[in-house]
Amino acid sequence: MADPRSWRSETARLGNADPSDPTGWFEPLWASASGGDVTMPWEHDDPHPALASWTCAPGTGSAVVVGCGLGADAEHLARLGYATTAFDISPTAVAAARARHAGSPVAYAVGDLLDLPRAWVGAFDLVVEIYTVQAVNRSVRDGLTAGVRSLVAPGGTLLAIQAVADEVDDDGPPWPLTRSEIEAFGRDGLSAVSVEELGAPRLWRAEFRRG
Ligand SMILES: C[S@@+](CC[C@H](N)C(=O)[O-])C[C@H]1O[C@@H](n2cnc3c(N)ncnc32)[C@H](O)[C@@H]1O
Repeated sequence: MADPRSWRSETARLGNADPSDPTGWFEPLWASASGGDVTMPWEHDDPHPALASWTCAPGTGSAVVVGCGLGADAEHLARLGYATTAFDISPTAVAAARARHAGSPVAYAVGDLLDLPRAWVGAFDLVVEIYTVQAVNRSVRDGLTAGVRSLVAPGGTLLAIQAVADEVDDDGPPWPLTRSEIEAFGRDGLSAVSVEELGAPRLWRAEFRRG
């Protein structure tokens, strides 16, 4: 499993992408990647191993993948049987995911976790969030976490996979999550089912459910 901290060296070379701009740097980054200027640290075709080992049975109902990048996790959920939506703030990333998975049943969309369409709020039986919150600087962390929570339907499940921080470290990207930051997904009617620390690399895999 690639260590998300290795992104620090990749993103240091990003030219016109400025990670201190919480939401503005991803599209320039994806555009640079599609132009071949940088190697995208999130280039993968297989689902994240911590998602693959968690989803070992066929699924039913609706699922959404937050910050979906090139769509490997969304395709995995669709293969399991979920009616899957996947969104990313970067139009270039969404176009690349659609092109990579032509004919896919996944509904790929451009969307901002900080400004979600009303129709998505409380709409998904399974919400999967892998590495989006940690990829954005802490100035908007509370808003991103609240956005992820808001997607979960009554009775639904949220799975969050993020790198572990022992203490707050503002020297990102990425900006791994402390225990209190991962536990913050369990608010607004959600409660923790499990908060596991996996390694190596050290990752949180945390499951929450809305009552
Ligand atoms: C570190 S990448 C992870 C991509 C994918 N989840 C994976 O694990 O391969 C973070 C992704 O989140 C997207 N993103 C960043 N801020 C976002 C926001 N506010 N709303 C939706 N997507 C966002 C980025 O464009 C990027 O594709």
